[in-house]
Amino acid sequence: MGAAMSKWMRGLVAAGAAVAVMGAAAAASAQGAWTAPEAEKAKKNPLPAGAKSVEQGKRVAATNCVTCHGPDGKGNGAAAMALTPKPADWTAKKIQDETDGELYWKISTGRGAMPPWRHLPESERWAVIHYLRSLKK
Ligand code: HEC
Repeated sequence: MGAAMSKWMRGLVAAGAAVAVMGAAAAASAQGAWTAPEAEKAKKNPLPAGAKSVEQGKRVAATNCVTCHGPDGKGNGAAAMALTPKPADWTAKKIQDETDGELYWKISTGRGAMPPWRHLPESERWAVIHYLRSLKK
């Protein structure tokens, strides 16, 4: 194999590495599984369930969440059209199957277009989860 050939080979290897890096970046922006740490998942909702906390949560959602998640929590708010990934459908099994602790952590930390809601009082974040539960199909 001549010197020219091995130079061509090195170029090929470099190009391959660049493609691999680009592939990894694309995978990261496609946003895969979103999972809360185990300790967060285990957290229990300190607010008692019931009509009062559902009402409170509904008000929190109306103020902060419906623009994206829609008036019925189906992920079809006015701002949803422009977003990828789409705002979650709160009535979906995937969301309802998560623990209160996991939802609380995700609502508090956010991801991508989903803003972090850490600034809301803890009681409002837990109340909105009671409201979410009331939407279960
Ligand atoms: C600016 C738009 C926007 C607003 C406002 C918003 N969300 Fe979201 N939300 C999103 C998007 C987008 C996702 C999907 C994020 C992803 O999968 O990476 C999401 C996902 C979620 C999820 C699903 C988490 C999971 O398990 O996949 C929950 C629960 C949620 N939002 C709750 C709320 C609550 C509660 C509020 C109001 C306090 C709120 N969101 C306000 C855009 C928004």
